[in-house]
Amino acid sequence: MTILLHSGSPEDTFEIARLLGLALAPGDVVALTGDLGAGKTVFCKGIGAALGLSPDRVVSPTFTIVTEHEGTLPLVHVDVYRIESLREAVEIGLDETLSGNDAVCVVEWAEKLGELLPTDSIRVTFTISGDDSREIAISTPDRERFSGFRARSERFQPGG
Ligand SMILES: Nc1ncnc2c1ncn2[C@@H]1O[C@H](COP(=O)(O)OP(=O)(O)OP(=O)(O)O)[C@@H](O)[C@H]1O
Ligand SMILES: [Mg+2]
Repeated sequence: MTILLHSGSPEDTFEIARLLGLALAPGDVVALTGDLGAGKTVFCKGIGAALGLSPDRVVSPTFTIVTEHEGTLPLVHVDVYRIESLREAVEIGLDETLSGNDAVCVVEWAEKLGELLPTDSIRVTFTISGDDSREIAISTPDRERFSGFRARSERFQPGG
């Protein structure tokens, strides 16, 4: 199932992510793809909010690839901007991080991980469509909990 959403502000992106976060379960991987400044980190903060984390805590430090947070579920925030190869990703244990079953895992620059991403990852693609506008496409496995997200995100859907 693919859901197309329009965000008109950072607050919209945060809220879309928070609504998705409410549907997430341990073991889920959320794979974020989009240019510099598209809103990937804002999206991570929104998912964190759904898990009870303050937005100030969810940041992307330049040289840290994996950050773990203790929310109502554990949140593993991965930013692979600086990863040069799949081999490097495996060397630092990202394949195990991604296949873990007790945390929600959200990945910035996920396309760099190619086949290391689980096939049932939730894929989120951002397109910058204006200064404050972003088109956000979210592909999820066909599960009831994501149908609930689709219903809750209706006001961000074109014509919604
Ligand atoms: N609709 C929007 N959604 C998200 N961010 C927006 C939006 N409109 C403007 N912005 C701005 O775009 C920037 C997004 O920054 P953010 O760090 O989330 O991007 P990113 O995709 O993580 O970038 P990077 O690739 O550098 O990690 C912020 O400065 C935010 O205020
Ligand atoms: Mg970022």
